[in-house]
Amino acid sequence: MSQKPYYITTPIYYPSDKLHIGHSYCTVATDVMARYKRLQGYDVMFLTGTDEHGQKIEQKAAAAGVTPKEYVDKVVAGIQDLWKLMNISEHRFIRTTDDYHEESVKKIFKKLYDKGEIYKGTYKGKYCTPCESFWTETQLVDGKCPDCGREVIDAEEEAYFFRLSKYGDRLLKLYEENPGFLEPKSRVNEMVNNFIKPGLEDLCVSRTSFTWGVPVDFDPKHIVYVWVDALSNYITALGYGNEKYHDFEKYWPADVHFVGKEIVRFHSIIWPAMLMALDLPLPKKVYGHGWLLLDGGKMSKSKGNVVDPAILCQRYSVDAVRYFLLREFPFGSDGNFSNEALITRINTDLANDLGNLVSRTVSMAIKYFGEKLPVEREADPMDDELIAMANALKAKVEEQMDAFQFQNAIAETMKLVSRTNKYIDETAPWVLCKDPSKTARLATVLYNMLESIRIASIFLTPVMPDACAKIQKQIGADAALCSWESGASFGQLPLDVKVEKGETLFPRIDMAKELEALGGGAQTQEKAPKTEKPAKEAKKQQEPASKETPEGVASLITIDDFAKVSFRVAQVIECTRVEKSDKLLKLQLDDGSGEPRQVVSGIAAWYTPEELVGKKVIIVANLKPAKLRGVMSQGMLLAADVGEAAKVVFVSDDVPNGAKVR
Ligand code: MSP
Repeated sequence: MSQKPYYITTPIYYPSDKLHIGHSYCTVATDVMARYKRLQGYDVMFLTGTDEHGQKIEQKAAAAGVTPKEYVDKVVAGIQDLWKLMNISEHRFIRTTDDYHEESVKKIFKKLYDKGEIYKGTYKGKYCTPCESFWTETQLVDGKCPDCGREVIDAEEEAYFFRLSKYGDRLLKLYEENPGFLEPKSRVNEMVNNFIKPGLEDLCVSRTSFTWGVPVDFDPKHIVYVWVDALSNYITALGYGNEKYHDFEKYWPADVHFVGKEIVRFHSIIWPAMLMALDLPLPKKVYGHGWLLLDGGKMSKSKGNVVDPAILCQRYSVDAVRYFLLREFPFGSDGNFSNEALITRINTDLANDLGNLVSRTVSMAIKYFGEKLPVEREADPMDDELIAMANALKAKVEEQMDAFQFQNAIAETMKLVSRTNKYIDETAPWVLCKDPSKTARLATVLYNMLESIRIASIFLTPVMPDACAKIQKQIGADAALCSWESGASFGQLPLDVKVEKGETLFPRIDMAKELEALGGGAQTQEKAPKTEKPAKEAKKQQEPASKETPEGVASLITIDDFAKVSFRVAQVIECTRVEKSDKLLKLQLDDGSGEPRQVVSGIAAWYTPEELVGKKVIIVANLKPAKLRGVMSQGMLLAADVGEAAKVVFVSDDVPNGAKVR
């Protein structure tokens, strides 16, 4: 019998920087789903990849002094290594710079144009002549160019538009007739009330202000809008419009697109409208998961509050990190990441409950019977509850997994683990072993413990594939006894099952020691911000230039100390005074990362905000964020002490934003 296809995707990631734990959340969840479906017997296509075009990448590459392709190649290699490290199972990896994808995107654009779904129109906006950039009214800062602070003019430019406006009613109908199309439900209300009901506008789908993208093949000075390019990946990766693959008929429409909540709009409005325009079937579901937050805010490289998944995996094992991500946070909601929560979860669930159950059970089997259980049995009504619970588990896990409630699916399995630990206390094998007439009973108790572990390990396999394989080896359960189906019935292990002592699966972590080690900055790519700074530290940040020793000479540091400081060139986009302070200015900076950075600096006595806008400065980019007068500051400007005054160090205009200073 041929297997049923199942197609699941993650978003394709921007290779603008190293990925953080928030990014890996979605990929791990997708992997868990893919593994689950494979174990159930589906023929799974799991797609992920990288979204490599656009102005942001072009600028980053220029700042790094390399070509865009050189830039993305390096970052993409790191992303692929991360997926290998995190045990991401068999998947197809698409890069939007792959030739076959570019070829398909050109065809998709042309097809939409030929059908009249895309037309040539005029893009009207505010134009900054020196920067050659169009801006919308809302992007302007004080009516001026947000990049350079200069005057903008009303201008118009030829551009292609997609007739998105005509799809409002069809999208409303889609949500109404397919309540499962977009989940969780709250996301539907957001799309309807915030975007569709107010009226959709046609979407500008070409750009001429940069070149790093897929050119419109019949009008190559236009570059295809990066989201049209990116969304198309879900079908080009199956061979739509190209000869590289031939899986479109088999896998399309996708069973589910997993996406983060901020890109739900692209997936539940623009993407279905594009597919309708192409006369293609729509994906069965878009699931908008929540964000992992750090100290209540979204992780972001420019804020310096990102957590490196590779470091966590090296410290605690890949499986422990995967378990934490899916057990701790309800998939549809935001969740706060913290080292304490991670360590607590590993210690309680994995070291205490699961790890301990396995090691106790195997040790007792070896101690009482020398590895192999005798075949005599003596059942007792007190076994019934455990057996019934184990037999009912598969249906419960599947119900939760099919609803993408990973945390509940895992919790159901862990209930069986806890119940088995309780069963050990109830049956007290250490008492039974003393009475030779109870050998059959003791063997039964141990067998029931092993069976519960076998069943729990089957349902935890998608989350912790390596650890579960080790557990199964220890309890003498070979692959045939660990199929997904076999998890539905208690009593599959042979009566004379042979166990094998193995390594400790999840060593207990000393919370205090570990937090101290992590506090030293080992775990985050950049140190995580604390919500509040002690007053003394905050004061230090206000000072415009680094402090010298009382002798007037800075104490000597090594080159390694110096290398710890990340100096970057940044441009002042906006500058205002901090309320109720004569000393502080609040600056919005473009540090080349694509996201604005806010820095508060104690230079108000010597500079007016107007003087600073447009200027390029040097910042300490990896300084722990701190609040000054209640205003968050993400770094500090370099300035020279001249008498009582501070003179900001300015950099000439030709140095790109984000350039490293060393
Ligand atoms: N390139 C687009 C997606 C195009 S899909 C056709 C993009 N890339 S991204 O790299 O910025 O984000 C990729 C995914 O990572 C998004 O789904 C985003 O929500 C997710 N996450 C980024 N930070 C996150 C957290 N802190 N927590 C959870 N997910 C997060 O958007």
